[in-house]
Amino acid sequence: MRIYKVGGAVRDRLLGKPVTDIDWVVVGATTEEMLAKGFRPVGADFPVFLHPKSGEEYALARTERKSGRGYGGFTFHASPEVTLEEDLIRRDLTINAMAEDDQQNLTDPYHGQRDLEARLLRHVSPAFAEDPLRVLRVARFAARYAALGFTVAPETLELMRQLSESGELEALTPERSWKEISRALMEDQPQVFIEVLRACGALKVLMPEVDALFGVPQPPAHHPEIDTGAHILSVLQQAALHKQPLTVRWACLLHDLGKGLTPEEEWPRHIAHEFKGLKLIKAVNERFKAPRDCQELAMLVGEYHTHGHRALELKPSTLLELLQSFDVYRRPQRFEEFIAACEMDARGREGLEQRSYPQADYLRGAATAARSIAVQPLLEKGFKGPELGEAIKRERLKALKAYKEQV
Ligand code: CTP
Repeated sequence: MRIYKVGGAVRDRLLGKPVTDIDWVVVGATTEEMLAKGFRPVGADFPVFLHPKSGEEYALARTERKSGRGYGGFTFHASPEVTLEEDLIRRDLTINAMAEDDQQNLTDPYHGQRDLEARLLRHVSPAFAEDPLRVLRVARFAARYAALGFTVAPETLELMRQLSESGELEALTPERSWKEISRALMEDQPQVFIEVLRACGALKVLMPEVDALFGVPQPPAHHPEIDTGAHILSVLQQAALHKQPLTVRWACLLHDLGKGLTPEEEWPRHIAHEFKGLKLIKAVNERFKAPRDCQELAMLVGEYHTHGHRALELKPSTLLELLQSFDVYRRPQRFEEFIAACEMDARGREGLEQRSYPQADYLRGAATAARSIAVQPLLEKGFKGPELGEAIKRERLKALKAYKEQV
């Protein structure tokens, strides 16, 4: 049997990037031989094994043929006769289809190294279409390597367009899609992920609610970039520049979905878009089974981001309602993430990237003021049950009034 390092580990070494995961391919072996060497099988009918010590993945060289729709519709053909070249040709991109032996001799039949130099994300063969998730993968790699100057080869973009139009993307499971989306959002240039999905027509299929924002104007006084889609891309870029967590990035992507519902006669104004967008945010959240913290923050940011921007003008009673909606007393971190998303929204506008955002500290101060109310003295005064709740609220409101006057 011959063993080669493949995929991302080879690509990233050649790019001079740190290698975290190593995938191996094994040529000329049978399942029985792998088990005899102590490898542990990953799944019943999947020719992938874990190394007994390192835990790294070793896959038998295999060819795949599509037998049906979606990811379940695969048949695998793994046998000792399958060559390294046959294994590599079924992979997604040329830069991911190189192998290396233990002497670092490169096997590169599909010119991955040439494409690395040309900064091109190019599919290896028509077998690309066997797994529609690759449309999202390519967009994710485009986001990751944008800073190095990588772009998607025109013929690959065309294939991605055909796949998007074919209905195959609808067969992807929410779990597989979310894994790609969440990883892509955490890249340094997450906006490129959205741009590439849009360019091949996949955004319209996966998130029509986001796709609909392109071409929708906003008032130039607040949004010099005018286009809502362009605004979303800038907000995502700001979120990455400020190293925001996934929850914030997801909320940034979805916060303005309501603007896609505004009747054209009302453009460029978007009255009540915060509220109108909630059902769309919920739908996208559920479509990808986003984790609960991402879902929650997206809904809250969708509903209240304008409150964030107007923080200094809000009446104490409205401020209190805002803080209550976030349950800021028990969930201080979530309120911090809300403030961060609002700030990214404010900065993700053409020419306003460097603006200051005094609302952030003001909101933090308001939260501290409301949190400073001690319950014990009210208990001592004899308040109980709903009356205690009302008394706490009154005290918090008083504290917020004092805070507003003092700032
Ligand atoms: N692969 C593929 N099609 C997929 C998934 C994976 O062709 N849908 C192949 C590629 O050759 C890829 C390798 O399997 O390089 C390993 O996949 P994975 O570990 O998911 O990705 P990496 O390329 O290692 O990238 P990352 O750095 O994002 O983990």
